[in-house]
Amino acid sequence: MKDKTLRSQGWFGKKGKDGIIYRSWLRKSGVPSHAFDGRPVIGICNTWSELTPCNSHFRELAEWVKKGILEAGGYPFEFPVMSLGETQMKPTAMLYRNLAAMDVEESIRANPMDGVVLLCGCDKTTPALVMGAASVDLPSIVVSGGPMLTGHYRGQRISTSDVWRFSEAQRSGQMTEAEMEVAEAGICRSDGHCAVMGTASTMACMVEALGLSLPGNAAIPAPDGNRKVLARASGAEIVRMVQADRKLSDLLTREAFENAIRVNAAVGGSTNFVIHLLAIAGRVGVSLEMDDFDQFSRGIPLLANLQPSGDHFMEDFYYAGGLPVVIRELLPHLHGDAVTANGKTVAENVGAAEGYNDQVIAPLQTPFNPISGVAVVRGNLSENGAVLKPSAATPGLMKHRGKAVVFEDIDDYKARIDDPDLEVDASSILVLKYVGPKGYPGMPEVGNMGLPPKLLEKGVTDMVRISDGRMSGTGFGTVVLHVSPEAAEGGTLAIVQNGDTIVLDVEQRLLHLEVPEAEIAARKAAWKNPETPATRGYVALYQQHVQGAHLGADLDFLRGSSGSEVTRDSH
Ligand code: FES
Repeated sequence: MKDKTLRSQGWFGKKGKDGIIYRSWLRKSGVPSHAFDGRPVIGICNTWSELTPCNSHFRELAEWVKKGILEAGGYPFEFPVMSLGETQMKPTAMLYRNLAAMDVEESIRANPMDGVVLLCGCDKTTPALVMGAASVDLPSIVVSGGPMLTGHYRGQRISTSDVWRFSEAQRSGQMTEAEMEVAEAGICRSDGHCAVMGTASTMACMVEALGLSLPGNAAIPAPDGNRKVLARASGAEIVRMVQADRKLSDLLTREAFENAIRVNAAVGGSTNFVIHLLAIAGRVGVSLEMDDFDQFSRGIPLLANLQPSGDHFMEDFYYAGGLPVVIRELLPHLHGDAVTANGKTVAENVGAAEGYNDQVIAPLQTPFNPISGVAVVRGNLSENGAVLKPSAATPGLMKHRGKAVVFEDIDDYKARIDDPDLEVDASSILVLKYVGPKGYPGMPEVGNMGLPPKLLEKGVTDMVRISDGRMSGTGFGTVVLHVSPEAAEGGTLAIVQNGDTIVLDVEQRLLHLEVPEAEIAARKAAWKNPETPATRGYVALYQQHVQGAHLGADLDFLRGSSGSEVTRDSH
């Protein structure tokens, strides 16, 4: 242990009136005097909420973390922060990611703690907690809530990813409302987050690949007893991290970010990974750009055969050995010497990892798909870049030239997409505007907009779709997302008109609007933002300060770190 007085002694070690106030009010909650004797004080940052169903088991999970902290000689204090339930929050949970990150940051800094355990689960809870904690930079470890058990419907294994398939089936008349109700009851059958490689699982893999959790954290199902064992071990580990003064900035190095990009490619992670990793890098001052995602995921094959890109579920991933097996396979491409939360290197952590099912996790030599990761396309339609997930796209559409069918905003899309008279065919490109960070506001997951029913009925299963929004990690299709600059900032997307020709060429990394430059300039000169910005509260603050998707959509004044020091006392 390094010879230094711990931060919590700035509260509990005080003499006189101040010390009494800091300690005395805690005693009424049963906190014993030895909690104040200079041992590591650990905060457990809890995103439990009944309105965040994916995190509804976190109060119990926190108890297992506490056992580990106490066993290792620390003292735990659990505290709540804003929870972000992906399925319930309007207009989108992403609008509040930065608000939750502010809550996390200020809650950690203002309180007597030496280290933090971050309880993360549903999509945005992971980046929000990591971003907030990174701006304080205490020793911190992530415990994920774990995925749900696989759902069932009429003998088939299903998951939340099937919502989109079922919905298209109902719209095209292949599934009745009664059948939908049966499916609805079978999709989410246990505690935990979505059971596919959606955004929550992607985020859980991201933190493990960054070295912010213990090995194996990503895949253990929420109801599995081993999730409790991992929570307990993480509680013990954070005490050791405080003793070793191993902070987030020691782990979140450029090498760790490159590792995370490559691991994300190998597991077929969600496109939301891009935006959240950029935001985290911005907090710790690591230089990371959109093109890094393209560069570092090139040549990384798909090793995990998981829905929505593949066949299996997170439960199967765990039984096959989980993320340590993927990392072990990928070691030739990784910085194996990057240090992780437990003080061991990436390579040391996975040295003994064993794969049990190569139908779920393939060896590096025989991958499921030689293409994976994220492609970043640029051109006059996305000067700052846009992303596409090749493994979720239709190969025949990766090079495509088509006429734009433009929806001016989400209301326009909803009003017209089912219209039998909509002028659209399978070669059209659907364009949706004003669903970016500023525009919607909050950048919702509407980029994989449903196809027109009249084409679905003809058997069309995919079309090129372009927007400044995001796509659910459980979604799929040839979908160009995160177009930046966004429409609400007057980007070229804002002036695309019905019938314009657009060229997508993923091989060439091109997204081009075939309209003469002079015409584009004239349309831009005449452009006025049709959206009315908010005038009060958090949403106004957000719209004034949110940065583009290519910078992670963080608030400009939240980039960077303010450290953990608090210079003034409260009384
Ligand atoms: Fe919470 Fe999918 S809705 S992880």
